[in-house]
Amino acid sequence: MKKKIIAFMITVVCILNLCSCGKGQEKAKASTSDDLLSEGKLIVGTNASFPPFEYIGKDGKPDGFDIALAKAIGKEMKVDVEIQDMEFDSLVASIGSKIDIAIAGMTVTNERQKAVDFSNSYYDAVQCVLIPKDSKIANHDDLKGKKIGSQMGTTGDSLSENIKKEDDTTTISTYDKAIDAVNDLVNGRLDAVILDKNPATVFAKQYETIEVLNGSDFGFQTEHYAIALPKKDEKLAGKVNDALEKIKENGTFDELVKKYIETE
Ligand code: ARG
Repeated sequence: MKKKIIAFMITVVCILNLCSCGKGQEKAKASTSDDLLSEGKLIVGTNASFPPFEYIGKDGKPDGFDIALAKAIGKEMKVDVEIQDMEFDSLVASIGSKIDIAIAGMTVTNERQKAVDFSNSYYDAVQCVLIPKDSKIANHDDLKGKKIGSQMGTTGDSLSENIKKEDDTTTISTYDKAIDAVNDLVNGRLDAVILDKNPATVFAKQYETIEVLNGSDFGFQTEHYAIALPKKDEKLAGKVNDALEKIKENGTFDELVKKYIETE
């Protein structure tokens, strides 16, 4: 009898567990902004390999300017923010399924705007070129026919593709993480890496043998970072933009720039 009662209790506990698991999965991501705002949770996708905007902190959790900005936005919107670290190349396609929005030093591009909307821009950036200090590369034409590395699916990746279109002896290698491209540059497997200026500056400080050249010498244009949002969700876009504006007005934004970017 005692055994039967114990078996019964175990069964009940298992069933309860299964139910709560199912619910957890259902609630992992709200399907509309109304749901997510009423449930009070915003799932923010990022790719935490892009310092100072996002990286894995000493405690093993994503940290950086964008992460702090996302949390500040969540606070203004009165929702909890959950950060989901994933591959950069998967972020846009995951909006509306695995994540609600994405913040990842992401440049507004026409191509991405076909799939997602963007918040107001919060940072101006530019691509630059990392080279070994003893390299002779100095301008756009010098990159033709060279071995160029970049992070997969980034604007640096598109710029490398453009160079290959101009000269198909150019070799292009893409990496899941920009730091892996930098390592190959340091090891002599690449001639140059095209990467956003801030992370390039952070990485160049870690290796004595490489340096950063200005994107303007290569004809690279200014890019604008913004938060990627589900397409045509005006309510959510309004809330995110309002929060962003408040954060700029009340000085939080400048504090975060000082804390994360100016100290890089
Ligand atoms: N700004 C570039 C782009 O939008 C690179 C962004 C990479 N971000 C990252 N978190 N890895 O394509």
